Amino acid sequence: MNFSSSNEIGRLIVIEGGDGLGKSTQARALKDRLESEGKIVKEYDFPSKSGTPIGRLIGDFLMGKFGDTSPEFLALAFATDRFSQRKHIKDDLEKGAIVVCDRYVLSNIAFQTAKLDDFERGKELENLLIWLEYGEFALPRPDLEIVLTATDAYYQEGSHLLRTDDPKRDYISGAADIHEGSSSLQLKVNSYFRELPEAVNRKKIAIEDEWGIRKSIDKLHGLIWQVLGELSH
Ligand code: ADP
Ligand code: TMP
Ligand code: MG
Repeated sequence: MNFSSSNEIGRLIVIEGGDGLGKSTQARALKDRLESEGKIVKEYDFPSKSGTPIGRLIGDFLMGKFGDTSPEFLALAFATDRFSQRKHIKDDLEKGAIVVCDRYVLSNIAFQTAKLDDFERGKELENLLIWLEYGEFALPRPDLEIVLTATDAYYQEGSHLLRTDDPKRDYISGAADIHEGSSSLQLKVNSYFRELPEAVNRKKIAIEDEWGIRKSIDKLHGLIWQVLGELSH
């Protein structure tokens, strides 16, 4: 993989999308595949679940401890959490690693603006987060955002809540978090991602085929791998 990058010698690849679509599964598969090809890969998972104080605060919010919180102020917590990892990510990129992020800035924009019915307020929050996270916090910009999308039916049927054990979710003891529990939020977030325009460094991948059947883990991994290959040319 040698597609052009603003991140010096490393590459930043982000897996995005609504809850329960297989992002963490695909981030892991991508890391394994890249490592098997001899690449140095570092994986980050946002929000942090590695016991930082800010990660714990966000975990408490997701467990419903603070009830409803203003999306604008909540977004600042997620942004601060990412900022706390900035130095590590930059160091990895400078050493030439491929950094795979399980969610990044786009998740903050998608989830927190989806809570705002007022379009102008949503746009202001989006601009604020781009200014804060990429501007003031100087987080590296992704070389590639892979956005997983699903049909509304996926969320209406509650498929996003069907999970086997995921050690990254221990903080919530396997239960649905405050976002996952809101089907109206999930539908809004999913349509935000579905309607997002593609770009050179942003590709969308539907997790279901044309008959609404969920693609296998291997099939989705193959599609992600193909996107990476296309960018390399
Ligand atoms: P996310 O990180 O998007 O919330 P996960 O990767 O944790 O999603 O996957 C959610 C659940 O779905 C897990 O139990 C996982 O094993 C399962 N899963 C992931 N991808 C697929 C797939 N393509 N087909 C069937 N089950 C899947
Ligand atoms: P996770 O379950 O994928 O770890 O993500 C936790 C929740 O936090 C999920 O509903 C998406 C949301 N989120 C934000 O609202 N802003 C962010 O910046 C990130 C990374 C996640
Ligand atoms: Mg996940």
